[in-house]
Amino acid sequence: MILALVVRVCRAWWRSRVGRWATVGVVWLMWFDHSSNSGRLLLMLLAVIGVGIAVWRRCGDKGCGAALVRGWWHRRLWRENAGPLGLAGPDGQAGRVVSVVGDEWGTTSTYRLWPGQGPAAFEARAVELAHAMGVLTARVSSPGPGLVMVRYLTGDPLGAVSLRPWPLMSVARWQLGDAVPSGVGEDGRVVTVALWSSSVLLAGSPGSGKSATMWLLVLAAMLDPSVRLMAVDLKGGVELGLVASRAERLATTLDDAVAVIDDALVEVSGRYGVLRERGLRKVESGDPSMPPLVVVIDELAELTGTGSKESKAAGESLRRLVATGRAAGVTVIAATQKPSSDVVPTGLRDLFATRIGLRCGMRGQAETIAPEIAGELTKIPASQPGTAYVVDEGGSWQRFRAWYLTDDMVRQVASAAEAARS
Ligand SMILES: Nc1ncnc2c1ncn2[C@@H]1O[C@H](COP(=O)(O)OP(=O)(O)OP(=O)(O)O)[C@@H](O)[C@H]1O
Ligand SMILES: [Mg+2]
Repeated sequence: MILALVVRVCRAWWRSRVGRWATVGVVWLMWFDHSSNSGRLLLMLLAVIGVGIAVWRRCGDKGCGAALVRGWWHRRLWRENAGPLGLAGPDGQAGRVVSVVGDEWGTTSTYRLWPGQGPAAFEARAVELAHAMGVLTARVSSPGPGLVMVRYLTGDPLGAVSLRPWPLMSVARWQLGDAVPSGVGEDGRVVTVALWSSSVLLAGSPGSGKSATMWLLVLAAMLDPSVRLMAVDLKGGVELGLVASRAERLATTLDDAVAVIDDALVEVSGRYGVLRERGLRKVESGDPSMPPLVVVIDELAELTGTGSKESKAAGESLRRLVATGRAAGVTVIAATQKPSSDVVPTGLRDLFATRIGLRCGMRGQAETIAPEIAGELTKIPASQPGTAYVVDEGGSWQRFRAWYLTDDMVRQVASAAEAARS
């Protein structure tokens, strides 16, 4: 209590111009007053405390003392701000702080909710909460019933590109049934994307990192020798040309693309016939008679959004493929730099089990791909390509930075995939 008061008075003092100059004057006098050593001693003590606080803020929660100070400081701020932010209980009391854990990017705090209060109340005040706690961003989630967790970020952990190599960079083969390591989340954990019987839509402005992120998924699929691959690249094959030798089809024109999707639909209907005969409802992972079929489409707008009759028909075929392919072991991975409702109508978007939203220049486009986090997609800086939000069917989302493979790395994995087949 007293310490908090002292900190507050010191802060106000330092913020005023008179206070700053007076402090400089006193420091100067204390240091050069040769008659007293105690002045220098006091100054040194203050300097040690200052450096200690700075080190603690930089190093995060690496020591017991730091954890104690951090916990105390956090609880104090929380008690002070919960009421004004409308997050306190009925009698104006702040909710119990269950834990406060620090790391190099900030603090994660868990609070007990009051009866009748939900995480939504915190989400609605996330911006104000961040200001009150003196951090850049506050992200709200719920770790369990009656609890709300707020991640207070003092910096952006995704600002720096991951130096860790992509985990599949050096594997000889991969199984499509295993989720693909695709990037690193804000908590430093690997974020994975499931591909088996699960379609993925990637969307974002030009240069946001769609193709680079898509390559991670395509290469993982290629590393499974049993996977059948079909590719549609309506940018003339420049992006997906590298899969030409591995893919059984590579379409570079609208007509070819329509033919590829129709072929995939024929395959799906054949598989449904087999499933009916066998009395099964879906293809089991690892069934050699119906290997996973992966259809990759780079630049969906060229396929479904040109406005022509063929384009509309292609959109409808794609919708059927994504809808019916799931039980038939078909995965569609599609990317678009124009996530507008004519390219990805809601009826098509909602069929994708996983949506990966990268930086979107316009709010409307972000709304099309992931209305839940549209605002966040527009905030991703252009200087951070590959930063994305992955949204699953349940609507829960995670922010991450995708691994980036240079063209040489892509070639290296592609040849490993070739070797795995021979
Ligand atoms: N995860 C990442 N980390 C760092 N840099 C990245 C990452 N992903 C992409 N980049 C950089 O951004 C550039 C553009 O990436 P990419 O081609 O994947 O974007 P795109 O969204 O597919 O663009 P377009 O819409 O023009 O096809 C890459 O050449 C690379 O320099
Ligand atoms: Mg691209």
